[in-house]
Amino acid sequence: MTHDEKPTVAVLGPGGIGGLLAGLLSRAGHRVICLAGDGTAAALRASGIRVRSGLFGDFTAAVETDTELRVPVDVCLVAVKQTALEAALDRVPPAALGDALLVPFLNGVEHPATLRARYREDVVAPAVIRVESTRVAPGEIVHGSPFAEIDLTGDGVAKERLEALADALGSAGPTTRVLPDETAALWAKMSFLAPLALLTTRYALPLGDVRTRHREELTALVEETAAVSRASGAPADPAQALARYDAFPATTRSSMQRDAEAGRPLELDAIGDALLRAAARHGVPVPVATRLVRELRNAGH
Ligand SMILES: NC(=O)c1ccc[n+]([C@@H]2O[C@H](COP(=O)([O-])OP(=O)(O)OC[C@H]3O[C@@H](n4cnc5c(N)ncnc54)[C@H](OP(=O)(O)O)[C@@H]3O)[C@@H](O)[C@H]2O)c1
Repeated sequence: MTHDEKPTVAVLGPGGIGGLLAGLLSRAGHRVICLAGDGTAAALRASGIRVRSGLFGDFTAAVETDTELRVPVDVCLVAVKQTALEAALDRVPPAALGDALLVPFLNGVEHPATLRARYREDVVAPAVIRVESTRVAPGEIVHGSPFAEIDLTGDGVAKERLEALADALGSAGPTTRVLPDETAALWAKMSFLAPLALLTTRYALPLGDVRTRHREELTALVEETAAVSRASGAPADPAQALARYDAFPATTRSSMQRDAEAGRPLELDAIGDALLRAAARHGVPVPVATRLVRELRNAGH
């Protein structure tokens, strides 16, 4: 891939995130191949991806589809949820991926190791995305947030490859930057997300009620998460995290909470249990996180 060419992009899991990126990249002139199950692949082949976005406009973009990666690509974006990751990766045989970059957009901190166990270490380039985007039907994407920001990382990935991909993504729409420290990038997102997701889902309350009615727990959980982040080698600023929660609209809900309300599987292992595992590895006490994860499990999640 060079700066002059438009990379060919596969998108594994064309949902809220994958569908938005596939639509934007196709609109920008990239060849885009969405990898999905038969039903979703057929729907996308027939009608393309329809994006509704205040930031990027409303548009329909044609994409190719397949149930498995069979053609050479420059990049494969991975945008399934953690609960579907193992099964979905069967659609991307390592030989078909070759030396294409594999760029997961999942929340959490453990999936890069899962990918590196299956694929070449020097092609796994984790991304963090800040956006709110929802797949309302196969190929129908509603991008609700007035922002879409991507941090690209990848310990062991050539910097010029990350820069070229950041150029391509940035030209298609989302503000994209390359960050030098993968652990710091992943934990920055985790430190913000874990307290928000665990508390809003446990109490089935929007952020506004969590930060007033469960303030002590929120503060304790933010401090626990920051301690685990620091022990994992990433900086953390609990006071800043609290200030960010306070600045968000009171009606803010987490995607874990929306999944719980809709009866979908939660990314509890990737966000809650992963936090507990990291804490155990580093000997950091996390009593509030431990109780919240246990209560969510006891509630059937
Ligand atoms: N949505 C957001 O605003 C947002 C923001 C930041 C981070 N994230 C993170 O991004 C990741 C993706 O979330 P999302 O909201 O985009 O999820 P999503 O809307 O549920 O999309 C997931 C997609 O994966 C597909 N899929 C499931 N199993 C598959 C398989 N075996 N093979 C191929 N495709 C499969 C689904 O297909 P069907 O369409 O056929 O069901 C769906 O299109 C999560 O880790 C989430 O935490 C999301």
